[in-house]
Amino acid sequence: MILNTELEFKGNLFPTKIISYVKNRDTLTFTSENGVALQVTVVRDSVLRFRFTTTSVFEKDFSYAITKYASRGYNFLEVTEDDAFYIITTSKLICNISKTDLRSFIYDAKDKTLLCEDELGFHWEENYHFGGNIVKMSKTSQDSESYYGLGDKPTDNNLKGKRFENWVTDSYAFGKNTDPIYKAIPFYTALHHGKSYGIFFDNTFKTEFDFCQERRNITSFWAHGGEMNYYFIYGPAMSDVVANYTDLTGKPHEMPALWTLGYHQCKWSYYPESNVKEIANKFRELQIPCDAIYLDIDYMEGFRCFTWSKEYFPDPKRMVKELADQGFKTIVIIDPGIKIDKDYWVYQEGIENDYFCKRADGPYMKGKVWPGECYFPDFTNPEVREWWSDLFKELVEDIGVKGVWNDMNEPAVMDVPGKSFPDDVRHEYEGNHCSHRKAHNIYGMQMARATYQGLKKFSYPKRPFVITRAAYAGTQRYTSSWTGDNVASWEHLTIANVQAQRMCMSGFSFIGSDIGGFAEQPNGELYARWIQLGIFHPFCRTHSSGDHGDQEPWAFGRNITDIVRKFIELRYQLLPYLYTAFWKYASEGIPILKSLVLFDQEDRHTHHRNDEFIFGEKILVCPVNAPNSRGRRMYFPRGNWYNLWTDELVEGGQELWVDADLDSMPIFIKEGAMIPKYPVQQYVGEKIIDELKFDVYYKPGKESSQLFEDAHDGYDYIKGRYSFREFNLIGKEKELIIQQHKSGKFDAPYQTFKLELHGLPFKAAKVTIDKEGFICEEIVVNGETTIIVDKNFREVVITSL
Ligand code: GLC
Repeated sequence: MILNTELEFKGNLFPTKIISYVKNRDTLTFTSENGVALQVTVVRDSVLRFRFTTTSVFEKDFSYAITKYASRGYNFLEVTEDDAFYIITTSKLICNISKTDLRSFIYDAKDKTLLCEDELGFHWEENYHFGGNIVKMSKTSQDSESYYGLGDKPTDNNLKGKRFENWVTDSYAFGKNTDPIYKAIPFYTALHHGKSYGIFFDNTFKTEFDFCQERRNITSFWAHGGEMNYYFIYGPAMSDVVANYTDLTGKPHEMPALWTLGYHQCKWSYYPESNVKEIANKFRELQIPCDAIYLDIDYMEGFRCFTWSKEYFPDPKRMVKELADQGFKTIVIIDPGIKIDKDYWVYQEGIENDYFCKRADGPYMKGKVWPGECYFPDFTNPEVREWWSDLFKELVEDIGVKGVWNDMNEPAVMDVPGKSFPDDVRHEYEGNHCSHRKAHNIYGMQMARATYQGLKKFSYPKRPFVITRAAYAGTQRYTSSWTGDNVASWEHLTIANVQAQRMCMSGFSFIGSDIGGFAEQPNGELYARWIQLGIFHPFCRTHSSGDHGDQEPWAFGRNITDIVRKFIELRYQLLPYLYTAFWKYASEGIPILKSLVLFDQEDRHTHHRNDEFIFGEKILVCPVNAPNSRGRRMYFPRGNWYNLWTDELVEGGQELWVDADLDSMPIFIKEGAMIPKYPVQQYVGEKIIDELKFDVYYKPGKESSQLFEDAHDGYDYIKGRYSFREFNLIGKEKELIIQQHKSGKFDAPYQTFKLELHGLPFKAAKVTIDKEGFICEEIVVNGETTIIVDKNFREVVITSL
């Protein structure tokens, strides 16, 4: 359904004047003469929820996206009125509701900037066929307003001038601007006048967003059913908007085990067992770090989930154990389609308990996927999720599988129009029975949730690891994700970069792409450039469809192998840094990758940048995404940046050329940063870390850095057994001071830090620790000053002569 000229569309209906207003604690209800009711809930001082009904009665309030752990409560709330408006004031916002038509106008409470202004505001169109409304909202786009977010859209960072649809779709070999693809995350952030706010439209029906495409100054969104139900989230910092959205829809339930942040190797498919072993051995032989190896659908017996091919994997438990002895975790794929086969136990259980989705008229929903004709569990039923979670017992507890990869969960169906279930399929939806029109976008999310439940149950006390392809808002609570079936092309390298940034801006940071491309075959150069980008993605996995040739780090000749090794090694060195960034994400909702606009929204140059991003808080990265390059131009955000390779200092706020032959890439460290590094390991836990290295980058002035550590797996950190160290660096002309504040009960196995000083403008002559005049051991390596100090130091002062 495309509604082109909304304004002229005769079927649009609008609220009329307000005839009643009721306040019930944090919720204000305004009712119009024609029976439209608007509920405004003050979720927080900076978060308002708007909910409309056209029948005076609201549907039962239920959301898969909103977490019960979301922070609620405000400091100040006052409602006043004048002739034209009801005026809602919190400590952060002022929201005027027009008495004549329910339109809202939201202002910054402090400086009264108009942030978000309804144009037509809420309106709707009755849909006789669906038996509900198409609910719509339109807002006036402010001067120079830009838009970001919206999940996995494979397009430029800034969404202005474009229209999108959210309907999770199996999108083999999607291209730039293909829409929709695998994920539906109806959340965007907007930015104008230096201030940012977000809109989360929590509606699981097909939703559409138009950012000034149809009409130049109008942004609108609408859904093919359900309620107009959205959250307005104010910053003014974009990073706060994203953090608040992530708080609302949930942070990951736990930290990932550290090994999940290592390098993963995948292909469709490694089989039989001898092939898996060969791959594993080659990693160790060539000394290329790797933590996880994947089994795609061919490990199963005729693609039946929870079975093993006896021919290819006669003794999976032994194999998984042998891989584990070499430091590899085994991860297996599990799809939703359950083969119709009366001799197959999963099918039998599903039938006995009536767990599969049904068509409106009663028969089970039958569709073709890899195993042939299948039935599909209704993951929107909690009982089905419980059953599904128990199916993992043998895989995890007995065989020793460490992670599960959920694929095809859009749900994908082959050889049918729409590539998915028809609309009439019924779902339990936690007791709110509905059609597939409402459940489609959350089907994959609920599958990943059930899988997560199973892994958690049977891996405990280790942490679960799940990967999903389909997702709706909030899926980040349970699982990591990848961007689906991309293509081995230079354009797709660029797309992968923006998609990962966009997912991070949409509250979903544990994301990566199929490194090298899934469809078609990369050449060595493209593969190397993609690895360079991939090591900076929270989820780092090579995957390919496998039918065009090999895509392992050694598949492209020695030169490429050496480059790939060098970058994977860098990933492993940066693990404590990435783990700390993950901690900030899991505890505060701060995205792990920051697009430049999110890093510095005040600098207008950042509003249209795509390639550069900040990894964690301190590392500026810009992949080389064109063939035959010996470098590239890139924009440096404001501040000063050290070239990782040369220590040369670059002043930000300008675009510059950076050399980067194939064995290099533009990586810069923020001045003043302290970057923790582990030694290179072939897999997480291979070595006991006996000393933690920090690369310390001098800055005249102050900068703070952090380090989070714990046991790297398990749940002790929740009981306080973690350590959080905050470092303050203060650089002066002839002195460098580093102060440390530590909290938490975890004691790392090492005793000392090795501080390697970069860019020191003076020759260090004396080091004082904790004011006790203690002169520590000082060594000079390669002309750099390196100091070894006790890890619990409070203050280190390095002075010149
Ligand atoms: C889908 C997945 C892909 C997987 C393949 C076979 O195309 O996206 O990653 O390898 O199915 O399972």
